[in-house]
Amino acid sequence: MSKIRKAVFPAAGLGTRFLPATKVVPKEMLPIVDMPQIQLAVQEALDAGIEEIILITGRGKVSMVDHFDVAYELEDHLRKRGQEELLSIVEEISKKTRVVSIRQKHPLGLGHAVLCAKSAVGDEPFAVILSDDIIKSDRPAIGQMAEIYDAEGGAVISVMQVPPDQISKYGAAIPAEGSSPVPRLTPLSGMVEKPPASEAPSNLAIIGRYVFPPEIFGCLENVAPDARGEIQLTDGIRELLKSKAVYGYEFEGKRYDAGDKLGFLQATVEFALARNDIGPLFREFLRSLEV
Ligand code: G1P
Repeated sequence: MSKIRKAVFPAAGLGTRFLPATKVVPKEMLPIVDMPQIQLAVQEALDAGIEEIILITGRGKVSMVDHFDVAYELEDHLRKRGQEELLSIVEEISKKTRVVSIRQKHPLGLGHAVLCAKSAVGDEPFAVILSDDIIKSDRPAIGQMAEIYDAEGGAVISVMQVPPDQISKYGAAIPAEGSSPVPRLTPLSGMVEKPPASEAPSNLAIIGRYVFPPEIFGCLENVAPDARGEIQLTDGIRELLKSKAVYGYEFEGKRYDAGDKLGFLQATVEFALARNDIGPLFREFLRSLEV
């Protein structure tokens, strides 16, 4: 069993890229077919053996926390109607998850969101999962990273090669000299948050999965806010590099950027095609389209 028992899910953002859908509905609750994105992300953590889910929420995000609680009236209704299959789907969500929720009162950035989890995490290594990065994989991506952490220590950051014109959307990792004998692993010497393409140090983009030692909290406390007044996680990791090894890990699996409309649609189509219930009919429908 991995040393990683807790996962932090920063989810306080306003989701402006999906307005008007996200005016009152948290973006994390937008479904891929019928599964809220936050549930997909939590499931990845549970599949990796992580036991405690720490949701960092903000105003207007109550439904996301409710989603992991018992829904007494709904469950009672389904039970009385004999809708056992739906009942177990609904009951499972609250039965298998132990959730702590913490409010990030001000939108002070991703680094600040992670810092909000400090007392809930305590003095142990932990995972961070950004639910709008959806990763489809036979082995949960965060589980792959937890294994690397158990063997190597330091901090493990998921990375992916992206086309040079895309790197400005991401944190860009700077590979250190030398290489690691471990497949898919690259020791890093630094990283830059959303560099202009012309100044990017590499096309190795940071994706929303991280495994950190508890020392990251002290580093985040030392980071100065950026020009927008936000504490960037990337700056905290750069601070961590002064005392710990930080590795980039090219995970196995396919990643969708569900925080972007096109990525959201791509995830929806591929997840729908992979389903046993609607997959075959949906495939037929897609074939019939004259596009
Ligand atoms: C955040 C991080 C960035 C990372 C990205 C991955 O940016 O700051 O380093 O590449 O997540 O999705 P955001 O997408 O929140 O702007």
